[in-house]
Amino acid sequence: MTSSNVRPADMERITTPALAEKFVNEQIAELRAQIGNKKVLLALSGGVDSSVVAALLIKAVGQQLVCVHVNHGLLRKGEPEQVVKVFRDEMHANLVYVDAIDRFLDKLAGVADPEQKRKIIGGEFIRVFEEEARKLDGIEFLAQGTIYPDILESGAVKSHHNVGGLPEDLKFELVEPIKLLFKDEVRMVGKALGLPDGMVFRQPFPGPGLGVRCTGAITRDRLEAVRESDAILREEFAKNGLEGKVWQYFTIVPDFKSTGVKNDKRSWEWPVIVRAVNTRDAMTATVENIPYELMQHITARIIAEVPGVNRVLYDCTPKPTGTIEWE
Ligand code: XMP
Repeated sequence: MTSSNVRPADMERITTPALAEKFVNEQIAELRAQIGNKKVLLALSGGVDSSVVAALLIKAVGQQLVCVHVNHGLLRKGEPEQVVKVFRDEMHANLVYVDAIDRFLDKLAGVADPEQKRKIIGGEFIRVFEEEARKLDGIEFLAQGTIYPDILESGAVKSHHNVGGLPEDLKFELVEPIKLLFKDEVRMVGKALGLPDGMVFRQPFPGPGLGVRCTGAITRDRLEAVRESDAILREEFAKNGLEGKVWQYFTIVPDFKSTGVKNDKRSWEWPVIVRAVNTRDAMTATVENIPYELMQHITARIIAEVPGVNRVLYDCTPKPTGTIEWE
């Protein structure tokens, strides 16, 4: 395993399935040499980076890998189930699934400040992971899905699923098999490892998850409105050829209501805001020119299918001035 954090100038860019295959085979050999017959721990969020690391390690050391998937209640619809299906049922990984939903949502109750929410989510994540790590015997390595842009941007480890904050007795030797790869290369490698397209070509998803899209103090009912409307948006974008084309798209449910009429009665319910943006580096972004008919169809579905919602809005704001997320 290379210990350098600098990508060698002559390192070949992984642009074909054959090169991805070659990388996989080399990494398997290196991982076996590094880990031997010891145990390695991985926080598996289901995002592309940690999924690729998991799949590599399963091939390299099989049952010596222990994956911990923390469901903090802020994941998209179907994501925790997909992690269990792909890694436990299909790849036969040693997967610890932690249902920490109540724990996170109880801690977040009444907290409206965005930075405070992020701190709680990040901090609680480390604590849950730490508790699981302590239950396990004989772990000597900690795997991480660090990729090259993470190193270039911060010289540090990943921010939100960051387990670098573990206490001294849980400081394991790091295993970072994709740390010199760019995102497109990670996706190539994911394909070569046989991960499903839905996982490999997934749009970026922030560590605090749906928590920053349920603005202000998170409530369970409004969080469900975010999750359900996001699922409808993703389904419609996929059906209409926009999946993989638009860089990031999601819904927000803000913490205010407006009047409406439903079934001949006055309603007092939340709006759903749809955001769809394109960018190269997330520093600036333009708004996707979504077909109006599609927007009308998405609106009709959200209003009919998501409880507590009476309006749908499209966010036409580029970055700047609007950030991509609303919090
Ligand atoms: P903004 O909202 O700053 O987002 O324009 C730029 C990109 O970063 C993602 N993002 C985050 N990712 N933790 C993350 O891991 C965060 O707290 C966070 N906030 C924003 C956002 O989804 C977008 O892709």
